[in-house]
Amino acid sequence: MKQATFLILSAIAFLSCTSPKQEGALFLYNAEDPYVAVFGRQIQMESGPLLEIRSYNAQNSQIIQNETIETEVGRAGVMIINPVDRLGAYSIIRRLRAEDLPVIFFNREPLAEDLALWDKAFYVGARAEQSGRIQAGLVMELFGGDPGQLNFHDLNGNNVIETIILKGEQGHQDAEIRTREVVKAFADRGFRLNILITEVANWKRQEAYEKMKSILTQYDGTVELIISNNDAMALGALSIMRQSGFFRDDNGDGQISDDDETWRPVVGIDGIEEAQEMIEQGYMYGTVLNDSQTQAEAIVDLAKVLLNGGDPETLKYPLEKGKYIWIDYKVFQ
Ligand code: GAL
Repeated sequence: MKQATFLILSAIAFLSCTSPKQEGALFLYNAEDPYVAVFGRQIQMESGPLLEIRSYNAQNSQIIQNETIETEVGRAGVMIINPVDRLGAYSIIRRLRAEDLPVIFFNREPLAEDLALWDKAFYVGARAEQSGRIQAGLVMELFGGDPGQLNFHDLNGNNVIETIILKGEQGHQDAEIRTREVVKAFADRGFRLNILITEVANWKRQEAYEKMKSILTQYDGTVELIISNNDAMALGALSIMRQSGFFRDDNGDGQISDDDETWRPVVGIDGIEEAQEMIEQGYMYGTVLNDSQTQAEAIVDLAKVLLNGGDPETLKYPLEKGKYIWIDYKVFQ
């Protein structure tokens, strides 16, 4: 009898010393998106042994995402959601509020009025305005920094930069704001752009490749700059340009760089591995790091606080308006 009591007491003591494993669920809008796929893995890596995060791929369908969220209601203690459609967040928030389930959105920002519906709804992301401005800064530097006297990258010497813009998904805050802000940043500094065409390629490499193929037949000799809302589309543009005779080692110095005649500046946003490699090899001019590693850390820290009923205001990342954690973009060149 004494022995049994001892065993029970030791079991209770053991259980109270070890925190039980906690569960969360992660919903990606589309695991085929190279930036989001890496982001998802970073969240998993950050979660550590005491937090199990089950991951779901919505394959770009809000219906699939809603169904998978439903399967996790009553199982996961926190939902981490990259919505397919930012407006779809409205019904998700109301559903999770009814279940008293905390939710962290990331990468696609819900409307402020929807986030306001639920105390335990948060957003972790980066400010799209910032990425557009950093991107413009990179290009202005390349063209010599003086709007009144552009350098040799202004191929026809008209002091205007003949530009192609590759845009992400229509209506996505990153696509709309990046496009608006990059153009505005040039104008604010007195640089003149002649936007030959703005093509929507939905964040996708293949789509950008196809679009760029027809752009080249139309504007081939005139293009002086390609601004892309993300790296995947920039890489698509780069590959068709290489196939079409751009980016040759014209001066025979054994490397590809901006002093080769067929080199053209292509700038992206995200900092995915392949873009980093293209920059190192001299093909791509630069990108803006959309710091998913730090965003993943902030998401997981917030998730743990929410699971333990803690106060999100005590996190190392400042919580703005009780709802938002913003992580800075960084230059990558
Ligand atoms: C953006 C990113 C894009 C794409 C998009 C998906 O922040 O720059 O490459 O992943 O998110 O929502």
